Amino acid sequence: MLGTRASGAAGPRIFSGVQPTGHLTLGNYLGAMRRWAEVDQHRAEALFCVVDMHALTVEHDPARVRRLSRQAATLMLAMGLDPERCTVFVQSHVDEHARLSYLMECTAADGEMRRMIQYKEKAAAAALRGESVRVSLLTYPALMAADILAYGTQEVPVGADQAQHVELTRDLAERFNQRYGPTFVVPRATHPKVAARVMDLQEPTSKMGKSGQGRKTGVVYVLDEAEVVRKKVMRAVTDGGSDVAYEPDERPGVANLLNVLAACTGGDPEKLAGAYGSYGTLKKDAADAVVEVLRPVRERHAALAADPAYVDGVLRDGAERARGLARPRVDAAYRAVGLLA
Ligand code: TYM
Repeated sequence: MLGTRASGAAGPRIFSGVQPTGHLTLGNYLGAMRRWAEVDQHRAEALFCVVDMHALTVEHDPARVRRLSRQAATLMLAMGLDPERCTVFVQSHVDEHARLSYLMECTAADGEMRRMIQYKEKAAAAALRGESVRVSLLTYPALMAADILAYGTQEVPVGADQAQHVELTRDLAERFNQRYGPTFVVPRATHPKVAARVMDLQEPTSKMGKSGQGRKTGVVYVLDEAEVVRKKVMRAVTDGGSDVAYEPDERPGVANLLNVLAACTGGDPEKLAGAYGSYGTLKKDAADAVVEVLRPVRERHAALAADPAYVDGVLRDGAERARGLARPRVDAAYRAVGLLA
């Protein structure tokens, strides 16, 4: 089975991942995961990872992380990732991520970690809840850099919210190479043309995010039933004015619906705006489009969830293959910084 993979295929090395901190959302799908399946796995040696260790950077329930990790892996396959074409695995199954993360912590400066938007937001939210902030939340980008750099990754397909982390990864790779000799490929982020940042339907100035315990009405989850999806989209907050125009700054709610519709139907949000006379019809079409895009994913998920042994097998093979790819580069980095072979 391993031999038939696109190993050594021409094209760039690609790596991306998703955290099992909540149920996956339409934002995860349109911003990143759909491209992994439709484009990335076909043009490159690609690795896609459930980054479970990242889920421990905030307060977590072990049973929930376990359950969501399995669900994320199953969904990755349901979305069309083909283990014959790409490598699907779980981060904690491959020791090289943690090994290299430490070297990244020794390369990064504490000031640049503290500047990360995601750290600032999550640390502030933890403080509001009266929770302490885990050190790993601050050092998180070192682990993310390790995820990417261990594989000689050239392209990192992600949503816009991850751009800053990939930028930091580039800085760390360059700094490490300068200090210790050429070791890492300097990667770059790639984003989808539309829907690189899907916004919360109830709060269209905030990202549609999966974190948090409660299921939110502004968040469409990939596994929501069709009727639930429809209700959430139909109740989306729209803006003042009654005509439909694409103005992301002035009218974020309508722009978000246009982006989602465009992403689901392959259209252009500005052109679509001209085709609608009212918010009602826009919402209805957006709801239908989202339901149609998610339907096959939900159906395949149901079939795969009934066969956990298959999913386990995929993850076991994936980890083995990932280990083989990461090990030599991480070993080289250990030698380069002065650790004894
Ligand atoms: P995570 O788990 O938050 O999200 C997974 C992917 O989904 C994208 N995404 C979105 N895109 C558009 N609109 C949204 N509302 C939206 N919400 C999420 C994210 O940009 C991401 O591409 N730190 C990463 C996980 C990670 C990673 C990596 C990614 C760890 N190591 C190495 C790439 C390479 C994260 O928290 O993603």
